[in-house]
Amino acid sequence: MSDRYVVIGNPIAHSKSPQIHARFAQQTGEDIAYERLLAPVDGFDAAVREFIAAGGRGANVTVPFKLDAFALADERSARADAAGAVNTLKFDGGRIIGDNTDGVGLVRDIVANAGVPVAGKRVLLLGAGGAARGVVLPLLAESPAELTIANRTVAKADELLAQFGHPALRASRFEHLSGAFDIVINATSASLSAELPPVPVPASVFSSASFAYDMMYGAQPTVFMQLAAMHGAAVRNGLGMLVEQAAESFFIWRGVRPDTAAVYQWLRSQL
Ligand code: ATR
Repeated sequence: MSDRYVVIGNPIAHSKSPQIHARFAQQTGEDIAYERLLAPVDGFDAAVREFIAAGGRGANVTVPFKLDAFALADERSARADAAGAVNTLKFDGGRIIGDNTDGVGLVRDIVANAGVPVAGKRVLLLGAGGAARGVVLPLLAESPAELTIANRTVAKADELLAQFGHPALRASRFEHLSGAFDIVINATSASLSAELPPVPVPASVFSSASFAYDMMYGAQPTVFMQLAAMHGAAVRNGLGMLVEQAAESFFIWRGVRPDTAAVYQWLRSQL
């Protein structure tokens, strides 16, 4: 019988993870079965334990359970601790091991796939919620000259500053942002809103030399990407991050790195 994995969330029907992992498995010859698991909002732990009892080997965790997964894990990686959230569980010898692959997925998509180095760059991160927190450590690991976090609720950006205590890190109000940034990353949940601009970010943060990344994705450019492109920036959506975080989970479970480019191209054609 194939080794079993799931993606757990609520809702979960929309998740592309089963298709991504099926392609990784096909490519690498790994014998896995990967399905969607809808857990009740207050029933995450029970759903995981039931899956383990049924022979489950690992799980991806999505909204709204990343904090529950963090709490449930017996052991956690440093990047999961930094993120305060877990998106990958591995069940090993009766223990539940928690990791977070979102940040490394983002960084790989920017640096390796888009070919935009972070080292020495002026980077702006919009948002200070769970999605933003998850990418701070992997971004800092690339040695940017500056990583400014701007958030509507400034206290939350200040909290991240205190948590990471890194000399390259700054916090700012949207309206105090000055000068163009080399890389602007939207980690707010506002990019799907129909309003333009989606976040009150001054247009001056973009220049023709900027690279703007939206962690959201869709068939059409998000409003954030439209705003950035209007001011000359090169833009990319979060589809590549989705594939890269999945590849890192696959590596954690199977010790094999799949070829992400082919899967990215296929997913893109499906949007
Ligand atoms: P996620 O896990 O997606 O990060 P979250 O933790 O609820 O979700 O965080 C949402 C982020 O989007 C926050 O940074 C939030 O700003 P606040 O901390 O001020 O709430 C940001 N956000 C959501 N809607 C926004 C809007 N209309 N304008 C600006 N920022 C917005």
